[in-house]
Amino acid sequence: MSGDKLIIAVDGPAGAGKSTIAKKIAKILEIEYIDTGAMYRALTLKVIKNGIDSKDSESILKLMESTSICFKDNKIYLDGTRVDKEIRENIINNNVSNVAKIREVREEMVSMQRELSKSNNIIMDGRDIGTVVLPNANFKFFITASVEERAKRRHKELIEKGEKNISYKQVLAEIQKRDKIDSTREVAPLRKSFDSYEIDTTNKTVEECVDEIITIMGGR
Ligand code: CDP
Repeated sequence: MSGDKLIIAVDGPAGAGKSTIAKKIAKILEIEYIDTGAMYRALTLKVIKNGIDSKDSESILKLMESTSICFKDNKIYLDGTRVDKEIRENIINNNVSNVAKIREVREEMVSMQRELSKSNNIIMDGRDIGTVVLPNANFKFFITASVEERAKRRHKELIEKGEKNISYKQVLAEIQKRDKIDSTREVAPLRKSFDSYEIDTTNKTVEECVDEIITIMGGR
């Protein structure tokens, strides 16, 4: 347990519904929501904008030295500019896992994430929150869904955002690739920690998942 503070860790693969669910829980419990994926995405955006290959760790680490990433009112800022829309583009989806597997990148992000967890009651989502970032969280949830369902949701989201020439099949392949990198990387791979509750969202509405989690935590 973490003293008198409430700390909730949420992990799971791409498109499982983590952020939608975590945001709702944060609202209900009036606690802060921290999207750690957004931090890896922001660095990836800078990597791409600088024409650096997402596999070029050396150049990425150099670039990171002069990079500032922070949250203000739940919006993510990269070097002082708000980037919450740009970090959701598909080019970021397809490069972020390469950037996130670099050991030194993770060390930097994890130390910022732990710092963020010190001052408030929080719900934090990502891939390694229950296993590495906040192992003493009061509650840990592992949110999953079938890969087909996750690809279907991500495809719909991309189409709604205006990425026109993208097929379901392509999104499915991209998600499978990202799952593989995230769960087989050397540092802090995506894993369900032994003490987390698994929530399979495949055939459930967001509301049903939120209710399930609130019930597990002992009601509103
Ligand atoms: O929204 P979605 O589930 O697609 O991804 P995200 O949560 O924004 O995370 C994007 C990527 O960042 C993941 O695929 C991981 O490679 C990386 N990530 C990570 O390594 N560790 C975290 N705590 C959060 C994200």
